[in-house]
Amino acid sequence: MTDEALPANEAPSANEALSNLLHEDRRFPPPADLAASANVTAATYAEAEADLEAFWGEQAKRITWDTKPTEVLDWSNPPFAKWFADGTLNAAYNCLDRHVEAGNGDRVAYYFEGEPGDTRVITYAELTTDVKKAANALLELGVEAGDRVAIYLPMIPEAVVAILACARIGAPHTVVFGGFSADALASRIEDCGVEVVITADGGYRRGKPSGLKPAVDEALTKCPSVHHVLVIKRTGQDTPMTEGRDLWWDEFVGQQSAEHTAEAFPAEHPLYIMYTSGSTGKPKGILHTTGGYLVGVTYTQWATFDLKPETDIFWTAADIGWVTGHSYLVYGPLANGTTSVMYEGTPDTPHKGRWWEIIEKYRVSILYCAPTAIRTFMKWGADIPEQFDMSSLRVLGSVGEPINPEAYVWYRTNIGGDRVPVVDTWWQTETGMHMISPMPGVTSGKPGAAMTPVPGVSVDVVNDEAESVPNGSGGYLVITKPWPAMLRTLWGDDQRYVDTYWSRFPGLYFAGDGAKRDEDGDIWLLGRVDDVMNVSGHRMSTTEIESALVSHPKVAESAVVGASDATTGQAIVAFVILRADAGDGGPDVVAELRAHVAKEIGPIAKPRQIMVVEELPKTRSGKIMRRLLRDIAENRELGDVTTLTDSTVMNLIKENLSASA
Ligand code: WT7
Repeated sequence: MTDEALPANEAPSANEALSNLLHEDRRFPPPADLAASANVTAATYAEAEADLEAFWGEQAKRITWDTKPTEVLDWSNPPFAKWFADGTLNAAYNCLDRHVEAGNGDRVAYYFEGEPGDTRVITYAELTTDVKKAANALLELGVEAGDRVAIYLPMIPEAVVAILACARIGAPHTVVFGGFSADALASRIEDCGVEVVITADGGYRRGKPSGLKPAVDEALTKCPSVHHVLVIKRTGQDTPMTEGRDLWWDEFVGQQSAEHTAEAFPAEHPLYIMYTSGSTGKPKGILHTTGGYLVGVTYTQWATFDLKPETDIFWTAADIGWVTGHSYLVYGPLANGTTSVMYEGTPDTPHKGRWWEIIEKYRVSILYCAPTAIRTFMKWGADIPEQFDMSSLRVLGSVGEPINPEAYVWYRTNIGGDRVPVVDTWWQTETGMHMISPMPGVTSGKPGAAMTPVPGVSVDVVNDEAESVPNGSGGYLVITKPWPAMLRTLWGDDQRYVDTYWSRFPGLYFAGDGAKRDEDGDIWLLGRVDDVMNVSGHRMSTTEIESALVSHPKVAESAVVGASDATTGQAIVAFVILRADAGDGGPDVVAELRAHVAKEIGPIAKPRQIMVVEELPKTRSGKIMRRLLRDIAENRELGDVTTLTDSTVMNLIKENLSASA
């Protein structure tokens, strides 16, 4: 039904990236002082190159094991990997107790900054106590190792407590982004058979409390597997509680014992499931396990950000509901004993300098955020960050989508005072950890390029025949060797795991991204080559939004494309054909459909634009030609229409749109 697997040079952001690439010759070598004391040096690459398994065996020493693993990788049944398989450990112990036992209990784990201006300083000792109590609470509710717990929360410290309490008792968590709808929450709960949900009355967004619990109540009408809901009080808004099912967190967790001894689990024990969009309608439950994941995120946070846990103040400005939050706001930072900043709200509340104020206030030294945020700040103007003292910064990270060279240079210049290196980190929910990134003490950065694989990671760019492309050419990004934080499977669907990632190029992990190797062999990411869109760094499936639209009684057919957007990277543009009995749909049909998508998936999935059309362009085999719809959405000259069943369709669409405009 779609023009699947566009060649990389047709992916939406590819042309832009390629043309930038042609005239990009700026280079930013590492600052001398950073290079002089850098964690990663040229020797690190050499070490990984010499013996990959020995290298990862060394990295595993960053973790405290109950039983030390004797084996690094078991790849006897590819693509099902086992890492450190005979080792046992507890992830929460590694993030908490061991730091307290080492005398670092007074170190700050989080500086929490609530949107309304409330703050909390939480030490490792305090966090450990909170997690022990929450673990005891889950045990009292009958949660056992292996049972699934859903977490649906705003960006508050209890989200970390909830995650680690699950990890502590070996109950895989599935965190659902607070911006997802009741339906999206329900489908995730159903897919992995959740027993307990942890939520809050609400959270603060854009200066207002916004409710969460009502969505849980609505979701649970369809989810009989859930027997208890723990509700954190954040906003104090009116919250109906269901007798016998719902419990207030502060009462129920508050009364628990602060004693809990962490039990060790096998390295391959499931740690969490994170749902992400694929190229079909049904979200995929990415499964991460304990030992390899923890080794991967602990090592990469240390390497990519040149982390010095005793002195750095680290801020990942991403929601805990995405993998970036899991790996670099929770597990990596805590396992390394980092002091992090956690911010609840939006960057413009109450003013557009909020982020820079936070950096000044806490002396943040490492900031990690998405290009879409950077482009928004560019739009607001450099005079805003200029008013704050950001001399504490020493590394800037970017994640989630290709960073265009202009945004990279703006970030480096205006946030980094033209002295701080920018690391553009390519990775995915599936990879769990950074895969391609400059190393700030080694790499001379090129604006817009993710550059080279992280030491210990092996990637390639290949053509349709799985052959490595020469320098100066584009193709598909693949990962050629297993890595410790790799997904182990898709929850309950081994076959889909094999089909999605390991079948396109046998023996190679297919990432779904187009990439180019430049003349120096450095890697540039060019956007997705499948039906996945990237809107503000959020992954969205075209099919999923099409299904949501078609589920509305007025819609007969729909096609969704990701059109280039100066701020959000891509924007969702939908074309819909109304059902005959819907007439012209009425004056508010577009608003009605946008609201419907928000209800089905969540406000982040609302199309920027919905165009009501009479026809959709299709090939003779019935596939919708999204390429042409993208041309329309981006106001471009139409591409080749000769493979259409009826090439006049495009004229019809255009006429129809100009008439309705
Ligand atoms: C997709 C993964 C990684 C955590 C956040 C997103 C795109 C991610 C980059 C980057 C170019 C990037 C890719 C990838 N992506 N980082 N630095 N440069 N593209 O995780 O939701 O699983 O999305 O995001 O297309 O496949 P995700």
